[in-house]
Amino acid sequence: MSMASAVTRRTKLPDVGTTIFSVIGQLAAQHNAINLAQGAPGFPCDAALIARVNQAMRDGHNQYAPMTGYLPLKEALAEKIANLYGQTYDVASEILITASASEGLYAAIAALVHAGDEVIFFEPAFDSYAPVIRLQGATPVALKLKVPQFAIDWDEVRAAITPRTRMIVINTPHNPSGQALSAEDLTQLAALTRHSDIIVLSDEVYEHILFDGRRHHGMATHPELAQRSVIVSSFGKTFHVTGWRVGYCVAPADLMDEVVKVHQFLMYAADTPMQVAFAEWLREPSHYLSLSNFYQQKRDLLASLLQESPFQLLPTAGSFFMLASYDHFSDESDSDMVKRLITAHGVAAIPLSAFYTDGTDNRLIRLSFAKDEATLQAGAQALCLLKAR
Ligand SMILES: Cc1ncc(COP(=O)(O)O)c(C=O)c1O
Repeated sequence: MSMASAVTRRTKLPDVGTTIFSVIGQLAAQHNAINLAQGAPGFPCDAALIARVNQAMRDGHNQYAPMTGYLPLKEALAEKIANLYGQTYDVASEILITASASEGLYAAIAALVHAGDEVIFFEPAFDSYAPVIRLQGATPVALKLKVPQFAIDWDEVRAAITPRTRMIVINTPHNPSGQALSAEDLTQLAALTRHSDIIVLSDEVYEHILFDGRRHHGMATHPELAQRSVIVSSFGKTFHVTGWRVGYCVAPADLMDEVVKVHQFLMYAADTPMQVAFAEWLREPSHYLSLSNFYQQKRDLLASLLQESPFQLLPTAGSFFMLASYDHFSDESDSDMVKRLITAHGVAAIPLSAFYTDGTDNRLIRLSFAKDEATLQAGAQALCLLKAR
């Protein structure tokens, strides 16, 4: 039996309750459904990376890491970013190792957004942005990406900017749509924010997962935007170790100073043995440069397996997510569709409405292809059995 508290409950997050993610997760578990819902990779990481973590532990790297991160890891990151994107970050003052991208996002928003500020972000969106903005006493301003391209309407952004706008949150490649910003998008963003105090918080956790020869147009590829951006990324997505909870932020020194202050009291430091292992692992570029190809094969496999399904697949430019439309054969809500897929067909996906604060329903479901081949085959087979009605 649970115990009632002796105090009056006052919630800071009245809208955060049981999310559709946990409802779907429970239903999927009850029905033992094939899981194309969850974003976490369904295959192991490289055994050699685990061996390096083990070795780091045996070598005695088991106490607090330096507060802003293990120096050789920060050096390796600075080199990677300079080589790939052309931007030089100072190792001492502009790079922070965080306990996951989630921590980096939280620390950046908490440090840089004040009560009364407005923060523009784009829906469908990763679920942490709006609640974390609210926790600062600030106002999340949700703009909708244009369906079906999931592109940003820059005129709409211009119209939404007010003297209170403190931050614009970008996510590229994008979860859940699988789209990515173009060089032209960066030009537009730079023009809109020029001569303003607007900070760009750029969530780039899928930076190494881009398809068909695309380049990553992150903020570090644009020298002007880099000067006003905090970029957040995650080793979890890049090395198939989402449970290790290590990520990083890079930003100009004056912005980073503030982010570090929050990180200091939030986590103090990220896991030491993982940082030691990643420092060595990053020195071999093929460990991250091979990722696009690896996931492109999975994307193409899932797309070809679903050719016989009644769903229409939207193109995926990056990340490990694919959207499937059923608008042409059913007017069920997207959560009813997902419940039917789980209970009647034994396969789980995520309804796209879960990524909108107002529950917008475009009759789209999100499939994850971060799965082994057998799971992709079984999941696709189940989706193909669904009859259009
Ligand atoms: C867009 C986006 N940002 C951030 C995260 C969180 O990354 P991490 O697991 O490193 O906290 C995720 C994880 O799903 C994500 O999809």
